[in-house]
Amino acid sequence: MDRQLLEDSLALVDVPDDGLTVRFYDILFDRYPSVRPMFQRDIKVQASMLRTAIVSVVDNLDDATWLTANLGALGRRHAEMGVTAPMYDAVGECMIAAMADIGGSAWKPEMSVAWQHALAAVSELMLTAYPPVSD
Ligand code: HEM
Repeated sequence: MDRQLLEDSLALVDVPDDGLTVRFYDILFDRYPSVRPMFQRDIKVQASMLRTAIVSVVDNLDDATWLTANLGALGRRHAEMGVTAPMYDAVGECMIAAMADIGGSAWKPEMSVAWQHALAAVSELMLTAYPPVSD
């Protein structure tokens, strides 16, 4: 995981007033309107929580224990909310789209690649903590 690239690219797009995650939800609900009803909280509040989660993950990239514990707990809450594996792909796609949108010409393809890997790893840790499906 290229920590420096993730930190630098996040700094580039982490604009005031949770602008990155607000833009992310705009794109998510535009491209995947079916997930919109899952969100009951005010989206501004939700955007602030998601920004905090992303910054915390980047701050703790070297701490596998922190990542496993915190993303595991977050994953279990998402399992209870009915969030499925394909939805994580949609979220990754829309987050990178929001980053590229805000970064403009300063946003480079290698930044998208770094975030694809990072968000896939986050999703993996969240999904691994899902309770086993019984049949
Ligand atoms: C990168 C992966 C994700 C991260 C870091 C993340 C982060 C968060 C955070 C921090 C919260 C606040 C509540 C809590 O802490 O439990 C939350 C809530 C929520 N997330 Fe996620 N999330 C992710 C993926 C997803 C996906 C794929 C979906 C499905 C579309 C989703 C849907 C929701 C919903 C429905 C809520 C509750 C909203 C409400 O109560 O109104 N999340 N998420």
